[in-house]
Amino acid sequence: MKKKFAMTLTAGLAAIVGGLVLFQGSAKQATAADGAATGLSFLTYTADGKIVRPEPSVYRKWVYVGTPLTPNDMNDGEASFPEFHAVYMDPISYAAFEKTGKYPEGTVLIKELSAVGSKEASSGKGYFMGEFTGLEITVKDSVRYKDEPGQWAYYSFGHKYPLKAEASMNKAASCNACHEKTAAKNPQNLSQDWVFEQYYPVLSAARAALKK
Ligand code: HEC
Repeated sequence: MKKKFAMTLTAGLAAIVGGLVLFQGSAKQATAADGAATGLSFLTYTADGKIVRPEPSVYRKWVYVGTPLTPNDMNDGEASFPEFHAVYMDPISYAAFEKTGKYPEGTVLIKELSAVGSKEASSGKGYFMGEFTGLEITVKDSVRYKDEPGQWAYYSFGHKYPLKAEASMNKAASCNACHEKTAAKNPQNLSQDWVFEQYYPVLSAARAALKK
């Protein structure tokens, strides 16, 4: 009996040590310039700097922050970002954001687009989510994107399935400029650090909780 307990204990300790080694291993891969684990560990870059499309099985488990909606029928039949925009934030950066109200180094935000599927359900008339249509990413990295305004970079995997397997960084003029301009020109709203936080109730609530 005693022997069995000792063996279980040894196995348990081995598992814990193994786990620590594994954790250290993945933390190492995640290491940014400052040596801390960041959301960047969730992204894979190709040798020529493209981002490999993240797996839905990964980012759909992140922190869901909100869903802006730009339906085609309110945008001359074709919204530039159709139609539902479900936004997810990597959990490491969200945990830091909750404590500081800042988007830390390595923040990754993913916007997953889906179409309006139906406009009526037994609950009433409305806009109901249909099939997935697109995927976009923004990521903050002061080393890799030292020349981008705010050190945020923007990538699009397309607005139509099948999505691109890899995406190159968009030019600042096509994405970053709109995010930057809005953040700087509307100090009265909650746009923060290039992120349209005022449309994400989960982030707005986290910021409000900090002020209490
Ligand atoms: C005309 C201005 C404009 C342009 C250009 C633009 N965006 Fe945005 N973006 C917004 C607004 C406004 C939101 C929030 C509301 C929404 O989703 O409709 C947003 C939200 C996002 C988000 C969610 C996180 C955040 O920062 O709020 C991502 C990711 C994103 N955009 C990626 C892109 C990419 C990639 C491009 C270039 C292909 C791009 N955007 C171009 C205005 C813009």
